[in-house]
Parts: sequence; C-alpha cells; structure tokens
Amino acid sequence: MTLKYTFPNDFWWGSASSATQIEGSDNGIKGKDIWDHWYQSEPNRFFDQIGPGQTSDFYHHYQEDIKNMKQTGHNSFRLSISWSRLIPGGKGEVNQQAVDFYRDVIDQLLAHEIEPFVNLFHFDMPYPLHELGGWENRQVIDAYLDYATIAFELFGDRVKKWFTFNEPIVPVEGGYLYDFHYPNIVDFKKAIQVAYHTMIAHKKAVQYYHGNFNGEIGIILNLTPSYPRSQHPADLKAAHLCDLLFNRSFLDPAVKGEYPKDLIELLATYDLLPQIEPDDEQLIRDHQIDLLGVNYYQPRRVKAKENLPNPASPIMPEWFFDSYDMPGRKMNPYRGWEIYEKGIYDIMVNLKDNYGNIPSFISENGMGVENEERFVNNGQIEDDYRIDFIKGHLKWLHKAILAGCNVKGYHLWTFLDNWSWMNAYKNRYGFYAVDINTQKRTAKKSAKWFAKIAEQNGFNN
Ligand code: BG6
Repeated sequence: MTLKYTFPNDFWWGSASSATQIEGSDNGIKGKDIWDHWYQSEPNRFFDQIGPGQTSDFYHHYQEDIKNMKQTGHNSFRLSISWSRLIPGGKGEVNQQAVDFYRDVIDQLLAHEIEPFVNLFHFDMPYPLHELGGWENRQVIDAYLDYATIAFELFGDRVKKWFTFNEPIVPVEGGYLYDFHYPNIVDFKKAIQVAYHTMIAHKKAVQYYHGNFNGEIGIILNLTPSYPRSQHPADLKAAHLCDLLFNRSFLDPAVKGEYPKDLIELLATYDLLPQIEPDDEQLIRDHQIDLLGVNYYQPRRVKAKENLPNPASPIMPEWFFDSYDMPGRKMNPYRGWEIYEKGIYDIMVNLKDNYGNIPSFISENGMGVENEERFVNNGQIEDDYRIDFIKGHLKWLHKAILAGCNVKGYHLWTFLDNWSWMNAYKNRYGFYAVDINTQKRTAKKSAKWFAKIAEQNGFNN
C-alpha cells in the first residue's frame, strides 16, 4: 500500500549536531576556542552560567548514541569536527587523540549504516586565531584551509558528504552586529568583511576538495524567508533588502558564483564594501557547491521603516527594514518562535526556480521546548507537539518534492538534548532526553515515531 506522503528512494532521514554542543570541551585534549574563552571570562553571559565544558558528553557516550540513532531510523547523521580539538593551536600540530576519536565515531556510524555528514566550522573559532583577528584577518583563511585539508585527508576515504560552514551568517550577526556571540563587536562594516572572508574560506575549501576528492561538498545556510507585511512597494522593498543581507549574501555566491548586484549597490552606497583581492572574483565564480544544507526554524517578517534612521547613528541592517509581528501567527508556545511550516516549501521552490534546482536537504529543523520534563508520562517525554511539528514541515517538504524540487533529505535538530550557545539546556530539542547530571539517555515519543516513518519512508497522516 502506498503511503499518502511517500518520500523519494534513499531519502536521508536523520539529525544534526555540532561538536561544541555535544562533546564537552573539558573532555579529552582540546585547544581553547572562543566559547571556552568567553565562558572563562564572562560566565554571567551564559544561561544558568553553564558553559561548553558541560555538555551531553557524546565524547564518552558516542557508541551508545550511535546505537540509539540506528534504533531511531537514521540512515545519516551530521556532526562537526571541532577545529580546536583537531588542531589545538588553530594551526600547526594535529592532535592524534582527536583523530582517533573522530575516526572511531565515523567508523561506528558506517558500521551502523548511518552515513556521516561532516561539517567543518560551526561557530567555533580557535582562540589563538581569534587573537589574530579571527575572520577579520584574511590570513586566518589559510589556517582554515589547512584545517579543512587535514580533515579531508584524514577522513575523506570514509566521509563523502562535507560541509564547509554551518550558518555562516550567525557569527556575523552574533559577533559583529547584535552582541550575542564573542567578540561582541557592533560594527556593520567589520561584519561585512567577516562575512566576505568566510565566503573566501568556503570557496578555497571547495576548490581544494574538488581538485583532490570525489565526494560532495556544500555549505549549510539558515535560509530564513523574509515575508513582507503587505504587497505595498515599500514593504516589498524592505523584504527584498532583508533577504539580500541575510540570505542572498551567502546563498548567491555559494550557488551562483556571484553576489547579487542589488547587494553590491546597497553596500557601495553606504561605503560598506569589503576589501577584496584581485583573484577573488574568479575564485567565487569558479567553485560552486554540490549540495546545499538548509536550516529552517522560523521566517522573518518585515515592513517598511516607520521612522527614517538618524543619519548620525551608526549604520546597521535595520536602517533598511523594521521587524513585523504578524497578527495571528502561529507560535511555539514552549519557546516563543513562530511556526510557519509552509516556509520550508517556499525556500525549496525558490531554490528550484532561481538557483538551478541545486540538490538540497533540510539540514536542521526543530522545536525547542522549555521545561520539557513536565510532559513526562510513564518515564517518557510524550512530545506529541514535536511529532506534529515535524509532520507539518514534512508535509510541505513532500509538496515541494511533488512540485519538482530537488530535496534529498530531512535532519532534525537534534538527536540529543544538547547545550546551546545562548540558552545552555533551557530549550530541549532532542529525540533523546539527556539528564545532564547522570548522562542517562531516554528516548522521547518522537524518537519511536520517527523510526517508523523513516522505516516506511513516509506516513499517511
Ligand atoms: C541553529 C544552530 O541556528 O539553531 C544550532 O545551527 C542551534 O547550533 C540551533 O543550537 C537552535 O538554536 P538555539 O539557540 O535554540 O540552540
């Protein structure tokens, strides 16, 4: 019997993680990254004063966790390789203990027929490189390329799907615009230089990989549709500018090999263009990705500016649009983010119509829930809200596939309840609950449900 929502053969069912959020930076040999440094210097900036030292200890529990992934229907799983675990100084000597750890994780995944999707950079700049200026300093790109090359050489025989960056706009927003990531700078011009260097680093890694390996390489972007309040030209323009700054600033160069002309014009008008080097244009043009990961949580809703910005104030993206709380929008009652399932369809149709229908997959989608223990019944968290959330998004993803979009899979954020950058363990996302005192793992109801739909490759209702 055919299911109402049947997904293509070999659809990727799984989940995603990042090194800092699950490994525990106090475990094993690891150099300091910006998160360790920030926590040591300002623990009060962290929720409940919990830092990255205490996380879900995947470092010691990965064998159990990978067995649980298999039980949860996974045929694929994304991890990241911590730069400062692999190369504790950021550049130079490789840490053999890290090589053994990641190799064993990858081998265990493969032994369980779970394909490893490996991401390189997930917000975790090694601190010694930060002291050189981090992504503000073009020389850091060479250190990144060494790190990428070492990772490809070490694990490229086993790993066939690579990603250069997760959500590269987030360190730009957090670290250089809105003060929620280290180094807490607020400077639009620097933010643009950082974003630009990140793109150059990405391109160099893609170039190296394509020249030496024959798997696939891509990037993971949080594509956040920016919906205008109305069809009024001023609202449409606000949404267009927001889209240029927060989505197309990475999407266009990664997929099309060029920056949008409107974006260049906007930056030129406000004297915000980054410093570029003569060979950059060709580098950007010649090295496109094979695969795009799309992280989608909630849309952005924008409207035209109500008041013109004070020309004496420092320029920020908000000079060009205002946020808009759409009346009646559906909210996640347990965290406060909007839930708009159709956004996933709109993103995919946009990729089909305007980005050559690039092979893509949902690399993160998920529902954070505060105080999730209140839903425990008979020892298990009954997270029917998460099942509904996933199902709602999968229905729209299915519709996108029927419309001809080249969608290859769906990964939930995340497998285990994990530590989050700004929220520590406040919002739980996992298929598995983790007691952070005992490290006991317990499957939530959604884990069993997901195992079933992955096994059937779809669902009816
Ligand atoms: C994504 C990141 O932006 O969202 C993850 O790739 C992050 O690292 C996830 O944890 C959920 O956000 P938060 O702030 O609720 O942890």
